[in-house]
Amino acid sequence: MAKRLTNKVAIIGCGPGSLGYITLKALQGIKESDVLVGSKRLLNLFPEVKANKILLGKNYRTLLSKIVSLSSRKKVTILVSGDPGFFSYARLVVGRLGQKNCEVIPGISCMQLAFAAIGKTWNDAHFMSLHGRRSELEGLVEVVKTHNKVAVLNDGGISPRLLSHTLIKGGVKDRKIFLCENLSLENEKVREFNLDSLGKAEAEGMNVLIFTTQGISSSE
Ligand SMILES: C[S@@+](CC[C@H](N)C(=O)[O-])C[C@H]1O[C@@H](n2cnc3c(N)ncnc32)[C@H](O)[C@@H]1O
Repeated sequence: MAKRLTNKVAIIGCGPGSLGYITLKALQGIKESDVLVGSKRLLNLFPEVKANKILLGKNYRTLLSKIVSLSSRKKVTILVSGDPGFFSYARLVVGRLGQKNCEVIPGISCMQLAFAAIGKTWNDAHFMSLHGRRSELEGLVEVVKTHNKVAVLNDGGISPRLLSHTLIKGGVKDRKIFLCENLSLENEKVREFNLDSLGKAEAEGMNVLIFTTQGISSSE
């Protein structure tokens, strides 16, 4: 069992990127922190917070020992995008530090925003992440073939053209696709495609893709 730390490490969900989607509870935790650990994008959301700021990037594994040692003297908060329970650094942190040493504060996931933007439910969706997992693209074919509603995280590394090509080649037919980019930010874009038109689209930045079987909206 992991040793009990003097101060719990907070893992705070910061929502999809705009301050309007950060909860009051999250904001309070962030303001009370001595140390904030997060990506540049998330740290930049809180210029007025006086905490010591540590950039989280490729150092994410080695940083864990530093976080543990800092937590003996300071209140350390790890900022994650969206909700900590949905494809985030929280899994690694809680796995290493133990649940008793962590306080997880939920946030609004980009998935919630994406489904809200297209006016559909997400309780019946199947989820997958291609964020930093380009090698799993082939696996998407089977997932889309076998589920009526599939929602996928994409860091922008996989173009709409490659997605369309891979799915058509894999034998996927008749899907409505929603491409939801930069949700909650100034350059937010939510567009609807079929497999062919997706192949001609350009996308910029992080996005959520939702694949639905045609006609599914009539049964909702
Ligand atoms: C490591 S995952 C984190 C997901 C996060 N825990 C959540 O609940 O939203 C990062 C991926 O989330 C998606 N994402 C995060 N913020 C987004 C936004 N504002 N608009 C669209 N997609 C976003 C992108 O697919 C990005 O590659």
